[in-house]
Parts: sequence; structure tokens; C-alpha cells
Amino acid sequence: MRVDVVTAFPPLFQGPLSESILKRAQAAGHAEIIVHDLRAYAFDKHRTLDDTPYGGGAGMILKAEPLFACVDTLQSQRRYDEVILTSPAGRVYDQNLAKRLSMMGNLIIICGHYKGVDQRVIDTLVTMEISIGDYVLTGGELAAAVIIDSVVRLIPGVIGDGESMLTDSFMEGELDCPYYTRPPEFRGMSVPEDLLSGDHKRVAAWRARAARMLTKQRRPDLLTDAIEDAEHGRRKRK
Ligand code: ADE
Repeated sequence: MRVDVVTAFPPLFQGPLSESILKRAQAAGHAEIIVHDLRAYAFDKHRTLDDTPYGGGAGMILKAEPLFACVDTLQSQRRYDEVILTSPAGRVYDQNLAKRLSMMGNLIIICGHYKGVDQRVIDTLVTMEISIGDYVLTGGELAAAVIIDSVVRLIPGVIGDGESMLTDSFMEGELDCPYYTRPPEFRGMSVPEDLLSGDHKRVAAWRARAARMLTKQRRPDLLTDAIEDAEHGRRKRK
């Protein structure tokens, strides 16, 4: 998969992209992530990226020209599956969307910034707006890093132990169960016996029960969604 990130603040990506799983995924050729400095596409004397909104008001708007110049250049080189804009006005991101994006070949992610982006960019270039949650970030860069992280780890081969990805929280529409590691007793707290039993069936049953209980307590909405999906699936198959 190739991801082209368009941003006015390239240094914000240095940390997230150069550590841990994202670093390995790139080194192994599973993901190619290229960060483009939007300023390189601002052709006026002062390399201006933003301007005040027509009609007045506070805040600055990311200008159309540099974004069009950058995206046009990229699209003249290859076909992209989606041109994503990170924005608090986008559809709210979740694991299902992460799965869908992880199956794509080429993505552009434009990082929204300042007060907003010229609407002509959204109307013409952008195919999908994504919000990572109902709160406002200072810019779309951290949101783009979240999207890239959650998508790249789903690409087959990126996570060595394939199991750990398939049993992720949310993969089955539930939260993941609690985990313990050595020692079996710590400050008077013991690890549940089923987990120490060495009996795979007992372990699996304990984990299924614990995951269901945690989901019921914390995120009952996930269980409702899963039931509705299953019912919808049955209806569709009829
Ligand atoms: N830009 C500012 N806030 C954002 C959010 N919650 N998600 C995506 N992009 C954003």
C-alpha cells in the first residue's frame, strides 16, 4: 500500500512513522508512506498556504491552489483509491473503515488545518472526509497519523503473529478480554485459575466470557451493533 500525506507540517510525522510497527512495515515494503510538504506547492513569493475567509470571521483557511497543485501532481503519476481529508466534519472513524482502507492500494491523505479548507478542494478533490472523534484537534496531522497507524497494522504480514491482529478488540464487534502475565500472584492479586490451567478450551471459554462481560459493562452499544449487523446479514441473504 502507498499513502501520500499532504501537510503544512511534515515534522509532525517524524515520530509516529519512524518507530515500532510502522517503521518495520515500511522497511519490509508493506507500506510506502510519503509525506509531502504543502509549502513546496505554494508558488507565490511568500509561499502562502492560508488566507482569511471571505465574509470575515476568525481563523485562517487553507488555500485551494497549493492543494490542487500537489494533488494534481500526485494524480498525474498514479491512480488513487481515495483522497481523504481529515476534518472534524467527516464521518467518524472506526475499525470497519480501517479494514476497508487497509485493502486499498493508493491513498492520499490531506491534513486539514487552521479553521478549515477552501470548500472547492472538498467539492472537487476530496472523496472522503474522516473525523477521528468528536473533539477538535489543532490540525489534521495527528488524525492522519492515527488513520495510518490503524490501517497499516491491518495489512497482511505487517504484524508477525497474525493471531494478535485477528483477535484485536473490535474485530469481533466486542472489546478484548483482560490479559495477565507473570508472576501468577502479585501483591495478593492472583491470575484467574482458568488462564493458568494449560487447558486451551478452558482458556478460550474464560476469555469469551470475560470479553462479553466487559463489553456489556462498558460498550453495550457494540453488542447491539453486532446483533443488528447479524440480523441485517440474514435479511440480505433471504
Ligand atoms: N481536525 C481537527 N479535529 C479533527 C478530528 N477530530 N478528526 C480529524 N481531523 C481533525
